Amino acid sequence: MLDLVIIGAGGFGREVLGIVRAINEASRDVRWRVLGFVDDSPGEADLKRIQRLDAAYLGPIDSLVGQPATTHVTIGVGEPAVRQKIDDRIRGYGLPAATIVHPAAEIGADCVYQEGLVAAGGVRVTTNVELGRHVHLNLNVTVGHDCTLGDFVSVNPLAAISGNCRLESVVLIGTTAALLEWVTVGRGSTVGAGACVVRDVPTGVVVKGVPAR
Ligand SMILES: CC(C)(COP(=O)(O)OP(=O)(O)OC[C@H]1O[C@@H](n2cnc3c(N)ncnc32)[C@H](O)[C@@H]1OP(=O)(O)O)[C@@H](O)C(=O)NCCC(=O)NCCS
Repeated sequence: MLDLVIIGAGGFGREVLGIVRAINEASRDVRWRVLGFVDDSPGEADLKRIQRLDAAYLGPIDSLVGQPATTHVTIGVGEPAVRQKIDDRIRGYGLPAATIVHPAAEIGADCVYQEGLVAAGGVRVTTNVELGRHVHLNLNVTVGHDCTLGDFVSVNPLAAISGNCRLESVVLIGTTAALLEWVTVGRGSTVGAGACVVRDVPTGVVVKGVPAR
């Protein structure tokens, strides 16, 4: 059994707790012992929600200092740029990032991923896909063959990434967005909820609508 701390007491952090518990229920042995949440400024309502989930609030993110090097972390924060900042900040603590894949998520053959992956229930990643560090794939996301997703990419629920797409680092794909095959989304860009991306998206922009522009 491995110890785990979830960074971020907000909605997504608590959803990550749900994924971790589903993993434990599906395993023969309990895989993760969740020590609790760290968060620099949790709201009162979130602290109560954590309590109702029978989980602990451990304090601000710096409470990770002094954790044994065997304690894993997962960054339960959906916003890519914020997740990247947190990762930069905690890198020096030397704690490994957990890989959290819901038992009802499918990751196909020859898919490679780096540490920090969070894949929610219903995710389907087909084949020959590369996922960078701290990639988040939310509920029912599909990622087609030969895609590459850079570090800190977040794909929100029900988005569909067609084959051969390239999402550079720190990209956010909004809920139910569709990406046609072979498109590239540039570093730091956001694709709005419900958009249909039909051509490449440059770096650092927001696109929305059908077709996305
Ligand atoms: C596209 C997005 C990034 C824009 O955010 P924003 O810059 O703060 O946009 P605003 O809310 O100020 O809206 C600006 C305009 O864009 C429109 N708009 C906002 N989101 C839109 C979307 N997804 N598709 C089409 N139009 C959208 C607004 O209606 C508004 O139009 P108006 O100027 O004619 O009134 C954001 O709305 C979005 O879709 N984010 C993804 C959210 C998501 O996936 N949530 C799920 C979490 S699990």
